[in-house]
Amino acid sequence: MSAKKFFISALVGTTLAATTVQAKTLVAYFTLTGNTQHAAEIIAQKAGADLYQIELITPYPSDYKEQIALAKKELSEGTLPLIKDLPANLDEYDIIFVGSPVWWGTIATPVRTFLASGALKGKTVIPFVTHGSGGPDKSFTDTKELCKDCKVRTDGWSGYNNLTPGLESWTQKMLEEVQK
Ligand SMILES: Cc1cc2nc3c(=O)[nH]c(=O)nc-3n(C[C@H](O)[C@H](O)[C@H](O)COP(=O)(O)O)c2cc1C
Repeated sequence: MSAKKFFISALVGTTLAATTVQAKTLVAYFTLTGNTQHAAEIIAQKAGADLYQIELITPYPSDYKEQIALAKKELSEGTLPLIKDLPANLDEYDIIFVGSPVWWGTIATPVRTFLASGALKGKTVIPFVTHGSGGPDKSFTDTKELCKDCKVRTDGWSGYNNLTPGLESWTQKMLEEVQK
């Protein structure tokens, strides 16, 4: 290769490298029994993303009936439970996958706190949920409702308990679409 050709090729290489920088991605999730965490880990692996677990300052009681009663009370009263500190570098992320278990047909209250915090303003939010026999129900539309300043996808992923069919291909599809 001539010196001139080499120079042009190096220049083109530099330009390409600069334009193919990937958007920084975070997978944020809340879990009580591990199902949503399992899905979150698969998404993070596929997307090369960082993981952030949404945690309550005061955890739910360990007794299942008490958990259910408290969660139901929070949802019906519209209470947003306090969560631990958000990631200090949250501003750096462009795309945030947000995972929740389905509670009474919608997203869990700690996830509502996260979405309503205002910290996701302007970001692309891609929801995913795990559920029992009821399915995702209002989870995705409620995510959009709660995160008014975000660009929320309402074609989220949902899976039954810890089963994850199609999760990797859905993750790939979402990443391609939002980075177009
Ligand atoms: C308080 C509570 C409410 C729930 N409500 C629903 C529901 O409305 N519909 C549904 O399909 N599953 C419901 N489930 C089942 C969970 O969504 C499901 O088991 C989920 O995978 C749990 O995720 P996790 O292990 O990440 O906490 C509920 C579970 C709990 C604890």
